[in-house]
Amino acid sequence: MRRVLITGSNRGLGLGWVRHCLERGDRVFATCRQPEQAPALNALRQTAGDRLRVLPLDVTRAESIAAAAATVKGFESGLDLLINNAGVGGSQAALAGLDAATFMDTYRVNVVGPLLVSQAFAELLAKGVDALLISITSRMGSIADNGSGGWYDYRASKAALNMLNANLALDLRGQGITAVVLHPGWVQTDMGGAGATLSVDESVAGMLAVIDGLTLEDSGRFLDWNGQEIPW
Ligand SMILES: NC(=O)c1ccc[n+]([C@@H]2O[C@H](COP(=O)([O-])OP(=O)(O)OC[C@H]3O[C@@H](n4cnc5c(N)ncnc54)[C@H](OP(=O)(O)O)[C@@H]3O)[C@@H](O)[C@H]2O)c1
Repeated sequence: MRRVLITGSNRGLGLGWVRHCLERGDRVFATCRQPEQAPALNALRQTAGDRLRVLPLDVTRAESIAAAAATVKGFESGLDLLINNAGVGGSQAALAGLDAATFMDTYRVNVVGPLLVSQAFAELLAKGVDALLISITSRMGSIADNGSGGWYDYRASKAALNMLNANLALDLRGQGITAVVLHPGWVQTDMGGAGATLSVDESVAGMLAVIDGLTLEDSGRFLDWNGQEIPW
């Protein structure tokens, strides 16, 4: 049994994380921007009971993050697994169509959001058991692997998230927190599209098997849903 918090858990991979963690017997804080408009998530409460708590959390709003952290502290003395899952696909604009405002919108969700969430929950993770700080990145954030260009803001945001994870791994190591970035594969969600190669269940089951094998020695790594190392 782990005490888990997931961001962006109303649909896609986040909802998959909630389902799989509940199936394993975990206690889950499922966060999303608008819990009152998250029917699939709320439906899980019927079987999960008080092992599932649905909380509002917008990763772009500091007061929302602080309120969620305060609520969790009211229920638990520590957290064992934090999953920075919330993300946006970015503008997908070609070079000529890029603009600063859209670029920064992507950064606010994909970079600043996970950093502020990690900051707010670090104290609870430090009191967790074999605590894991997992951030869902993308292979598209790999500079070494970029062979096709495009996706400027998305690629840059995930590369920045990878750097944040490298820092967090160093800074939180002394508190026993393992920080890893995971690429979920190309997954059938609103972001990945129907033509993606993996179902949400396949991706999340793979990532859970990977995180089950992680120790503090793995902190700072960039792995895919199968446990394969991705070059930076
Ligand atoms: N699907 C893929 O093939 C793929 C591949 C590589 C990496 N990823 C990464 O995997 C993660 C999950 O992606 P997905 O495919 O599940 O995408 P998705 O189906 O588009 O879901 C994105 C989730 O992020 C939430 N979100 C967006 N902005 C937010 C904010 N400001 N605060 C809180 N939550 C916010 C969304 O909430 P709302 O419903 O409120 O918008 C939604 O729950 C992302 O980090 C993504 O970059 C996905």
